[in-house]
Amino acid sequence: MKLSPEEARRRIEELREQIEQHNYNYFVLNQPTISDAEYDKLLRELQTLEEQFPQFKSPTSPTQRVGAPPQTQFKTVRHSLPMLSLANAFSDDEVREFDARVKKLAERDQIEYVAEPKFDGLAVELVYEDGVFVLGSTRGDGETGEDVTANLKTIKSIPLKLRTDLPIPKRLEVRGEVYMEIEDFRKLNEAREEAGEPLFANPRNAAAGSLRQLDPTITAQRRLHMFCYDVGQTVGIEFHSQEELLETLPRYGLRVCPIYRVCKNIDEALEFYREMQERREELPYETDGVVIKVNDFRIREMVGEVSRNPRWAIAYKFPPKQATTRVKDIIVQVGRTGKLTPVAVLEPVPLGGVTVQHATLHNQDEIDKKDIRIGDWVLIQRAGDVIPEVVQPIVSRRTGAEKPFTMPERCPVCGDRVIRLPDEVDYRCVNISCPARLKESILHYASKGAADIEGLGERWVEALMNAGLVKEIPDLYRLKERLLELMRLERMGAKLAENLLNAIEKSKKISLARFIYGLGIRHVGEHLAELLAQRFRSLEALMSASEEELLTVEEVGPTVAQSIFSFFRDERNREMIRKLREAGVQIIEEISPHKAGALAGKTFVFTGTLKHFTRSQAEAAVKARGARVSSSVSRKTDYVVAGEEPGSKLERARALGVTVLSEEEFRQLIEEG
Ligand code: IVH
Repeated sequence: MKLSPEEARRRIEELREQIEQHNYNYFVLNQPTISDAEYDKLLRELQTLEEQFPQFKSPTSPTQRVGAPPQTQFKTVRHSLPMLSLANAFSDDEVREFDARVKKLAERDQIEYVAEPKFDGLAVELVYEDGVFVLGSTRGDGETGEDVTANLKTIKSIPLKLRTDLPIPKRLEVRGEVYMEIEDFRKLNEAREEAGEPLFANPRNAAAGSLRQLDPTITAQRRLHMFCYDVGQTVGIEFHSQEELLETLPRYGLRVCPIYRVCKNIDEALEFYREMQERREELPYETDGVVIKVNDFRIREMVGEVSRNPRWAIAYKFPPKQATTRVKDIIVQVGRTGKLTPVAVLEPVPLGGVTVQHATLHNQDEIDKKDIRIGDWVLIQRAGDVIPEVVQPIVSRRTGAEKPFTMPERCPVCGDRVIRLPDEVDYRCVNISCPARLKESILHYASKGAADIEGLGERWVEALMNAGLVKEIPDLYRLKERLLELMRLERMGAKLAENLLNAIEKSKKISLARFIYGLGIRHVGEHLAELLAQRFRSLEALMSASEEELLTVEEVGPTVAQSIFSFFRDERNREMIRKLREAGVQIIEEISPHKAGALAGKTFVFTGTLKHFTRSQAEAAVKARGARVSSSVSRKTDYVVAGEEPGSKLERARALGVTVLSEEEFRQLIEEG
């Protein structure tokens, strides 16, 4: 049945309203009233009508949420009012000092606060003009952020139009946090692991990575949410307190976290903090503290701000996440260099959204110092993204059945001898063909700074080894002759196999520096590999260098020289290099002609993510032109290259007056240089 244009217009209007109401019920109120299938049916009907009657298309239609075409770059957006950041407190005393300061500045003896969870996501600003969502941006450096409107539109808890049961303000800038729920983060990482893609370290990075996607259809597939907690500039609407703000925003369809408390005084805010600390594990999203804000906006005016921090708010951070559990066993892992690392196998325990089952114990000395025994109850902690560690044993819970740990005399993987060199804390397996070392060596060879074989992670290396497809590194280059067997690996399939083989093919052309690094010679990291490549110019020259010659390289001392020298004297290593070349690996030995170019002697620091380069490509590009890369900013730094989500290095660069380059400017410089 074909509708007349007028009928279509009416039906389109009706569908849009219904769908947005369902979005609101589901994503803001958390109370869906129809099934997913019914919802999809409405959306499909709307899509069809909009296609049949393109004259009624509208940027605020719910169909526009699915994702606009990819962009090549984000535009920058200047915030009309700066987006400030919060000062942190780590103890009750610091919070009380904050309260005392506010009281003094406001000349009152009691201050009312609003306490809210501190959401661990990324801050954004939404701009509504006459009730229509027209612009959305990231916080950026607080002054300017990136235009991520198309991506924000894919988040269903963000209204494309404000709800109209109140007068619509001329302009409303709303601020809040975009985040990913812990469960969705876990699922996303699971899928990425299967696809051989790099994992996100935590939900915050996953949310940031998803929102700062040039292709909005990818953002649309990630389940992101937003909580609003602040406003920027407003015209035609005024708020007088945080409480009023938090009560009003939802009436416009803007989602506010229902967990907050109006506190008569600082003691009540501290009480809220303690409750939140207890509850944080139950929440589906990550919080890293509590934000305590002065409720009354007139008082906020009075107390003002210092150096980008409002004096009317403070973030009281939670301590590192800790848990107690039992050490079921202590096992030993063997690394690429044969190093044995003791690892505690724990009774699984939830900690900060993930189930922790292992914690590193570093080495025997560390275990002895902390006196950690098998069977002990222990306190473990995770600070930020890092691997959990054992803080201390809970001695009072010992039964006497706990057993001290000693390093095995034989390698747990191959059974060969284990030695501890004088002056070293680590024990090592002496067998250079130990399978554990092989696995780690392949992973190292395939890593970003070396052959950079995308998708070849731990899981596939293990599978390839177990299936007997790879017994040494050169076997990687023979995998294409064993395509059928490769495709038969569990969960591999034709597509993944093809991607993997392509990535391996691509890695055949490799610079001398990367190749040297990829060999995994003890003590030779990326930087040293670079110096060796520059000094020796060819692999043959390096392979035949004497220890004395090696010692002439800047930064090479006796231990390193000895390590490199003996690596190349070992017939097994020479054989491996021969086989790699036979398999078609081409080592690009020429050193860049840019060496003495415009960038010679300059120092670069990178911060944030670049869109068109991987970090290692960008570093290689500047090194090839004779410049150095450093990890920290000082007065000696010549350029700081700021990608997406730059870190504190950018602030430091600005403070020191160091030249900051955007990715585009960096590209130009590289092309000129
Ligand atoms: S209020 C300056 N409230 O914390 C006042 N911020 O360091 C504006 N954040 O960039 C922020 N939860 O990303 C506020 N309930 C909350 C918050 C919150 C998380 C983040 C936000 C901001 C950072 C400030």
